[in-house]
Amino acid sequence: MMKERELLIRFKEYKPEELTPEDKSLVNIAIDSASNAYAPYSQFRVGSAVLLSNGLVVKGNNQENAAYPSGLCAERVAMFYANANYPESSITAIAVVVVDSEGNVIEQNISPCGSCRQALAESEMRFKKPIKVLLASKKSVLIFNSIEDLLPLSFNQGDLGLSK
Ligand code: THU
Repeated sequence: MMKERELLIRFKEYKPEELTPEDKSLVNIAIDSASNAYAPYSQFRVGSAVLLSNGLVVKGNNQENAAYPSGLCAERVAMFYANANYPESSITAIAVVVVDSEGNVIEQNISPCGSCRQALAESEMRFKKPIKVLLASKKSVLIFNSIEDLLPLSFNQGDLGLSK
């Protein structure tokens, strides 16, 4: 028999001042890092900060190129650097922000692109540890407990887990 299935995605919305000191610090590092974005083509300066299980924080920002597809998003810059240099450490959390030309966080909530979600999902599966995702704007910070909530039913060459 055909079954209609539903996916429920829960996330929390905080005001920036409601964040824990740890989360606030990660968001602030992402904001700081966004100023180093190389975004002459889009003028969209994205910053990311990855907290590793070893306690270190790795910064990323988008790096564009005149051959557009050769550039890379802030999330993957940080994540790949982290995995390249600390291969034993899982990613505990990632914060993502966009800043304007003055370095101020923009009003809109932004969200990682599909390719970054896929890459983050791979990291979650590789280390079998959920990655907390913090998406910060000027007015609010959205917190997801796992990248699975941003990319449900992701491709992983395995069972989708719908038999439950
Ligand atoms: N970008 C990111 O860095 N992260 C995202 O999640 C989405 C898009 C970058 C890519 C490009 O340099 C610019 O933002 C505009 O798309």
